[in-house]
Amino acid sequence: MASTRGEFSSRFGFIMAAAGSAVGLGNIWGFPTQAASNGGAAFLLIYLILAFTLAYPALMAELIIGRHAHANAVSALRQISPNATLRRIGAGTGIIGFIVASFILSFYAIVAGWMMAYCLAAIADLFQLTGLSQWLTGFGLERNILFMLTFMALTVGIISEGVQAGIERWSSRLMPLLLVSLVLLVAYVLTLDGAMDGLRVYLLPDFDRALSPGLIVKALGAAFFSLSLGVGTMLIYGSYINDRENLPVVGGLVTLVDISIAVLAGFLVLPAMYVALHNGVEIFTATGDLISEDTLIFTVLPALFTSMGLAGVVVSCVFFFLMSIAALTSSISMLEVPVAYTIEQHGVTRKRAVVVIGLVIALFSTIILINFDSLFGLVVAITTRYSQPLLGFMFCFYAGWVWRRDQLLQELRRGNENVEHTLFWKIWPWYVRLVCPLIILVIFVQSLFGSS
Ligand code: PFF
Repeated sequence: MASTRGEFSSRFGFIMAAAGSAVGLGNIWGFPTQAASNGGAAFLLIYLILAFTLAYPALMAELIIGRHAHANAVSALRQISPNATLRRIGAGTGIIGFIVASFILSFYAIVAGWMMAYCLAAIADLFQLTGLSQWLTGFGLERNILFMLTFMALTVGIISEGVQAGIERWSSRLMPLLLVSLVLLVAYVLTLDGAMDGLRVYLLPDFDRALSPGLIVKALGAAFFSLSLGVGTMLIYGSYINDRENLPVVGGLVTLVDISIAVLAGFLVLPAMYVALHNGVEIFTATGDLISEDTLIFTVLPALFTSMGLAGVVVSCVFFFLMSIAALTSSISMLEVPVAYTIEQHGVTRKRAVVVIGLVIALFSTIILINFDSLFGLVVAITTRYSQPLLGFMFCFYAGWVWRRDQLLQELRRGNENVEHTLFWKIWPWYVRLVCPLIILVIFVQSLFGSS
């Protein structure tokens, strides 16, 4: 059975795939806008500390379990359980994980569809097709369904090709493209009037805003969402890594890429906001707070691009193209979770599993779109605020408490005989056992009772 599973062909391929999963709308949209309204560099600093000290150890738990079992989350958690009850709970966790991954994809595909529509709208503007451009940027149901379906079709197309020819090949192509377009955009926006004000807001820390407990919790949630933790995505990607690979190193590199892109996106989005302000676009609400994240992306930035004439059209196209790519390399990792489970547990062919699951998720997305006001926010909150931390807790619990210690350490040694001399070896096994579950519980309780 194991021989029919896919495997990443190289370290570079794995890093591109896992970083592709991690780098998404959360980095380019979520992180910069949160940093903007929550103390700039102070938020950034807290985010960096949490990402390295907590999200990275939690990522390692998923990668190590996945690589050990070379299987989907359901059978991986079963494999490391010593008794029937824990096996059952492990299987349940894996199943809930794939359901949550599917629901995350169902709202992610909607937002990604908007990004694609905005990218095309810029091209329509270039040819002065005003009517088409207005249709593409209006939030009509037909447009929303059409672009969600197009985005899902791309995701399905890539995943149906399998691990190497689909996930690895496309991530390795798209991630460098994403990086280049991001760097070009940052370089361009920083030359515009007003950009330095944005840079100041980003780089001057405002600790009064950032040090509230609610905010630390928010930064941690952002770091967990950003590293795609809790739903088994990283576990399944870990299961496609070969046994010769040094996991702490590749996991560290993935974390580094993810954080770097978020930080880099801050150098784009915050200056762009203040360029918009400079050009007369309002970015504050009547109460003096920054406008909401979605208004920022779909109203402020387009207004800025329009005010910039032809250059704005090009920048707009590149910006939304970048967002679409970031979303695509993440969405394929979400779809792989239920697909891998269905192939391995039910013996279905990859093509059939991908098409059927893709259709079911597109149906969820359509239902959300039809009942947008009542369902969209609810699905986002249930999946990202509640389910991801809870499932992340379960993965750490299985790595730290359920899995036999000697087996876990043996897995850590695989691919790196000298691991015992590293700081990682001394700290991580305790971290994943005590610190990670505790902190995740704190986030969870806070998000249940916290104000936002
Ligand atoms: N990490 C992605 C982002 O930052 O946009 C979101 C994500 C991807 C969440 C994959 C969960 C997941 F399984």
